[in-house]
Amino acid sequence: MHLIAPSILSADFARLGEEVTRVLAAGADWIHFDVMDNHYVPNLTVGPLVCQAIRPLTTAPIDVHLMVQPVDRIVPDFARAGASLISFHPEASLHVDRTIDLIRAEGCQVGLVFNPATPLDVLDYVIHKLDLILIMSVNPGFGGQAFNPAVLPKVRAARARIAASGRAIRLEVDGGVKVDNIGEIARAGADTFVAGSAIFGAPDYAQVIAAMRGELARVAA
Ligand code: DX5
Ligand code: ZN
Repeated sequence: MHLIAPSILSADFARLGEEVTRVLAAGADWIHFDVMDNHYVPNLTVGPLVCQAIRPLTTAPIDVHLMVQPVDRIVPDFARAGASLISFHPEASLHVDRTIDLIRAEGCQVGLVFNPATPLDVLDYVIHKLDLILIMSVNPGFGGQAFNPAVLPKVRAARARIAASGRAIRLEVDGGVKVDNIGEIARAGADTFVAGSAIFGAPDYAQVIAAMRGELARVAA
C-alpha cells in the first residue's frame, strides 16, 4: 500500500494547524515533521512543542524526521509530544544501535535515514530492528530542491534488503518528489512518499495528492 506523507516544512507556519487539517482532508496519510537544528543541517525548524501542538488535530501518524545532532537527548521529548515514528541519520548518532533501542523503548516506531552519499551498510546489523528506511533524494536541510535520480539504485537495493529481511519495513523517499516522478520512484521499490513543496506549494492539495495516487495506481496495475 502506497502512503503519502506531506512535509509541513513547506506549509504556512502562521496557520500550521489549519494546514495540517487541510492536507489530511485532502487525502494525506501521514504528517512528515522535519526537525532541523542548525548543526547537523544548516537550517532551523521546529521542535517537540510544535509536534505536541498539532498532535490533537489528528489520529494520523506523525512521522518525525530528526536532522539533529546529538539525537538521543531529544528522543523522549518527541515521544512525549506524540510522535508515531522517529527517524534519525546514522551519522548523527555515536551509537546507532543504542539510539534505535531508545526510540523503541520510548514507544515509537523506528526509522533510519540515508543521505544521498551514505551507504546502506549499517543495515547489515540493524535492519531486524527497523520499521522504516528513509532514502534521502536531496541533501537534507531545505525543501524545494530537485530530486537526485542517482538514489534510485539505492532505493532498489533497500527494497531487496527489506525483502530478504522478511520484515514489514516501510521504504520512504524524501526530497523533490512530484507528480511527474513519483511513479518511477515507486517502480524502484518505494512505498511511502514525502512531498513538501509539491503539495503545499500548490493551490489545491487534494488535486496534487489525487494526481500522485493516479500515478501510483498505474505502477500497481
Ligand atoms: C529535507 C526534508 C524534506 C523536505 C522535502 O531536508 O527532509 O522532507 O522538506 O521537501 P520537498 O518535497 O520540497 O523536496
Ligand atoms: Zn524529511
